[in-house]
Amino acid sequence: MIAILLGAPGVGKGTQAALAAETHGYTHMSTGELLRQEVAEDTELGKSADIFMSRGDLVPDDVMVQMVAEHISNFPSEKVLLLDGFPRTIAQAEALDEACTSGAIGLSLYFTAPETVLTDRLLARGRQDDTHEVIAHRLGVYAKATEPLVKHYADQGLLREIKSDRAVEDIQVDVLSIVSGVLNQSNLA
Ligand code: AP5
Ligand code: MG
Repeated sequence: MIAILLGAPGVGKGTQAALAAETHGYTHMSTGELLRQEVAEDTELGKSADIFMSRGDLVPDDVMVQMVAEHISNFPSEKVLLLDGFPRTIAQAEALDEACTSGAIGLSLYFTAPETVLTDRLLARGRQDDTHEVIAHRLGVYAKATEPLVKHYADQGLLREIKSDRAVEDIQVDVLSIVSGVLNQSNLA
């Protein structure tokens, strides 16, 4: 089962996915982390992705779809894949829908917090793309390109909102209970 983690930069997608993966054996796939690895290894992909990432722009859809398709094609359906940072555009979501067998996407966890909270968290973290200017741009790109996915998954009955201006542990309780609830349902079906 695929669980899509949706939400703005800094909302805690990576934090929540890493915790759930560690305690429950779920697979955590972060497209941002995969890209940062390519950048660190100075591969051709990394070199071209770095230009987009350092500005806070999205890496082109075809590159991202190919990257994810490789990882999900052989993923066992009884296991849980936490997809963190993908899809991020309607085109990516449609490509994912097409690549998945019906029912493979079990849910989309939609994390929400006020923008001021997001900005403060990112500035405190201080990743290379966590500067005032790039954060503001990433939030704008999110609103324009990614927020339409909320409706995309709500229309499919897959969206579950989690208010994320709370303690990490409290959010995690909700994440685990929603994921295991959907997992149990799909096992019964
Ligand atoms: P990506 O790495 O996905 O970055 P992002 O979406 O901007 O999100 P973040 O990783 O910054 O936030 P998060 O929600 O994971 O929060 P986190 O848990 O880290 O993407 C980077 C770039 O790669 C993109 O800009 C783009 O260029 C490219 N890219 C990636 N995927 C792509 C795609 N599909 N298509 C195109 N381009 C793509 O938490 C943030 C901080 O807050 C941490 O310090 C954490 O400790 C803290 N924190 C978390 N939760 C809490 C809490 N509850 N209370 C207090 N602090 C908290
Ligand atoms: Mg992240």
